[in-house]
Amino acid sequence: MEARQGPLDIAVAGGTGFVGRALVPALVQAGHRVRTLARGPKSPGPTTFPAVRAWAVDLAEGRGLRAALQGAQIGYYLVHSMGGGPAAADFADRDRTAARNFVEAAEAEGLERILYVGGLGEATGRLSPHLQSRREVARILSSRSVKVTELRAAIIVGAGGSSFEMLLQLVEKLPVMICPRWVNSRCQPIARSDLVGYLVRALQVPETVGGAFDVGGPDVWTYRQLLEATGEAIGRRPRIWVVPVLTPSLSSHWVGFITEVPSAVARPLVEGIVTDVVTREDRIRQLIPQPLTPFRAALADALRERGAVARGSSRGQ
Ligand SMILES: NC(=O)c1ccc[n+]([C@@H]2O[C@H](COP(=O)([O-])OP(=O)(O)OC[C@H]3O[C@@H](n4cnc5c(N)ncnc54)[C@H](OP(=O)(O)O)[C@@H]3O)[C@@H](O)[C@H]2O)c1
Repeated sequence: MEARQGPLDIAVAGGTGFVGRALVPALVQAGHRVRTLARGPKSPGPTTFPAVRAWAVDLAEGRGLRAALQGAQIGYYLVHSMGGGPAAADFADRDRTAARNFVEAAEAEGLERILYVGGLGEATGRLSPHLQSRREVARILSSRSVKVTELRAAIIVGAGGSSFEMLLQLVEKLPVMICPRWVNSRCQPIARSDLVGYLVRALQVPETVGGAFDVGGPDVWTYRQLLEATGEAIGRRPRIWVVPVLTPSLSSHWVGFITEVPSAVARPLVEGIVTDVVTREDRIRQLIPQPLTPFRAALADALRERGAVARGSSRGQ
């Protein structure tokens, strides 16, 4: 399949989320016609970009999905159900149903291509339930005739990202951290702007059609190093003690208690970092060359944006 040139009609499922909020303006800027799909009525579209239509659709339920996809050539899939409501433990079920509904509707409406952001992690039996679910979503999206591109990322660095907020709020709130051994696992975060660069430019690169690619930033650090660098950036020096007995379950309750990230979100994230989360191949770098943002610079950008958002919302009160 050829990659498409020129303005495209694009549906961004999850367009109101952390990645979607950055992707939608970048697609609009690149000249595409964009619509967002999410359950909530909120959207970055109508206020900032009058041309972006916001469809209120529950993918897990499926009603109205075909109408929302009508006329689109491309679909981005940026949806996950972690931490959603009382039945949070059923996130894998909800994600399975949502992905199935989306790809069936996409095929019926003749979409040519879906681009999906999944999770980075070893393809061994040691994948956490969250990562297993992310892989399952990729398989479901690929089970029909629509071609799928999957970009697999570790922590995406930007204001409001759940993994990033977990890291930042731990450092903000705890001068001393008693951490499990996972603090010595290695991680390769990516700046949200770099991920968005890949997502937008992949539309013009035929070799990315129908493939799965690891994406990561230039730094591969341990979580301890990430916590320390984050501390440095906000003027804190967290003291980190490693204990061997803290299980992922206990850690997630601890993260949920300390930060604003709910335990239901923290648990799958913490389980996912028990092993190294680094790229195993870098084909994307040859296919879509772009300068990659070092962790410290991405962190500084995220903190600036966070400050601007906080100032904006206090002015709006
Ligand atoms: N954040 C990270 O650090 C990170 C790291 C690696 C991979 N990823 C992947 O990147 C993708 C995007 O993540 P994100 O951080 O942007 O997530 P997010 O901020 O939680 O956004 C999720 C989006 O999905 C929508 N959504 C959820 N359930 C839905 C449903 N049933 N029907 C319709 N829309 C629904 C949400 O809107 P409503 O709630 O209004 O429906 C929201 O727009 C996911 O595939 C995630 O696994 C993220």
